[in-house]
Amino acid sequence: MARIIGSMSASHVPAVGNAIARGLQEDPYWKPFFDGFTPAQKWLAEVKPDVAVVFSNDHGLNFFLDKMPIFAIGAAPSYPSADEGWGIPVNDPWPGIPPLSWHIANHVVEEEFDPVICQQMLIDHAVCLPMACFFEDCGRNKGYRPVKIVPVGINTVQFPMPSLKRCFEFGRAIGRAIESYPEDLKVVLIGTGGLSHQLEGERAGHLNKKFDTYCMDCIAGDPSPLLGLSNVDLVEQAGTAGLEFMNWMTMRGALLGEVREVTRTYHIPISNTAAAVQVLEQLPRLAAAAE
Ligand code: DHB
Ligand code: FE
Repeated sequence: MARIIGSMSASHVPAVGNAIARGLQEDPYWKPFFDGFTPAQKWLAEVKPDVAVVFSNDHGLNFFLDKMPIFAIGAAPSYPSADEGWGIPVNDPWPGIPPLSWHIANHVVEEEFDPVICQQMLIDHAVCLPMACFFEDCGRNKGYRPVKIVPVGINTVQFPMPSLKRCFEFGRAIGRAIESYPEDLKVVLIGTGGLSHQLEGERAGHLNKKFDTYCMDCIAGDPSPLLGLSNVDLVEQAGTAGLEFMNWMTMRGALLGEVREVTRTYHIPISNTAAAVQVLEQLPRLAAAAE
């Protein structure tokens, strides 16, 4: 059976793509950010996942404001990336795993969720850059693709949006789907985006370290206090783009058992964003051990 080994979450900021393309990892501005991924890379080298289920929000590549699904699941054999600006090279595609995507899609629909299922899907900085930072060689060594991916899209962009509670429950259903997949695969969950940031309007530049720390504490321990937060609460605390924390909550929902925090880093700011990295290991579950 497939097994979820843990989760990795990280902010996504387009300027990181430019920094990788220009080899700025040791530059004083960028070093603390890239160094934040080193413990995660060590953990990955130990656990060696086969598949990454990546929770993120589309930034206008697949869906625009005229058509915005609440939830989307990729079921493509391959996910090409597209131009992110800055004149940087376009990333090579990431391979998909359609049988697992369809298994997840069928399972969550049986559990009464209604995602759009995408047999073609592009991936933007929200997928490509965290992948390049976690799987370090993916940024430097083009074509190196150590895992297959299932992208899961969440509307964090335009009202009406799912609540944090709904995201968490959707994640739960995805976790159950993964763990009922018959093939022996090691699956890592990746949540991207956040933490606090706002790119436009009077509060552009808004950051909130206290709230971000609280969110990371809840993700590492008991996420239930977050389930009562509305999206308006989230905007007030974390800024409009801080709504991307929904991606983390969906990811956290898919961790069905007890977890142990492997690493956490937090660095303000990268571009306009509070940049965080957090890795959780899923502890072996009693039910699984009894099987
Ligand atoms: C920035 C952050 C984002 O999450 C994003 O999607 C685009 C830009 C930023 O801080 O520049
Ligand atoms: Fe974003």
